[in-house]
Amino acid sequence: MRIFFVTSNEAKFREASLVLKEFGINLSIDTNHRKVEIQSDNLEDIVSNALRGICNGEVSDYFVVEDDGLFINKLNGFPGPYSSYVYKTIGLAGILKLMSGVDDRTAYFKSVVGLCGPKVDIKLFTGVVYGRIAVEPRGTEGFGFDPIFIPDGYDMTFAELGIDVKNRLSHRARAFRALGNWLLSNL
Ligand code: IMP
Repeated sequence: MRIFFVTSNEAKFREASLVLKEFGINLSIDTNHRKVEIQSDNLEDIVSNALRGICNGEVSDYFVVEDDGLFINKLNGFPGPYSSYVYKTIGLAGILKLMSGVDDRTAYFKSVVGLCGPKVDIKLFTGVVYGRIAVEPRGTEGFGFDPIFIPDGYDMTFAELGIDVKNRLSHRARAFRALGNWLLSNL
């Protein structure tokens, strides 16, 4: 059984493959398929639609797609499913500006991981990590919003904590762990 993670984000791939290794599952990266992203405010719809484009017809391998969002409570869940666009446009500085002087800095990351393949139509797994938005970017590891996200129970950002700690508690690690458990008992 071969499992491919359709992503162009190598940092996501590294985190996901380390988690699946805990289950003895080997993950490969697939940069050939395109993850077609519909405009939607629902991560589950985005992932399901992308999978339909990949497993359309006979496939002999399994494919995994992931979509994430950073949801900031005081901003009514913004940027949420638009996190990628917001990261590329206003970036960390823009988010920190929106949060300037805001006391309630609580936020969460959500990951939706989807699987399709020969014996699976579409199966979704979800992971969430709660935390808060830092006042300034800190740390050099990770990617995306890692320098401004402090997970609950810690005083350091994901970018300061590094991949080992991040992989114990992140949204992605939780979703991929759910996938790993499911794969072990179903395939
Ligand atoms: P997408 O799933 O690739 O669309 O990710 C949405 C956005 O959230 C991207 O801009 C990423 O930078 C950001 N993001 C997703 N996962 C993480 C994470 O684990 N840490 C920091 N930022 C993330």
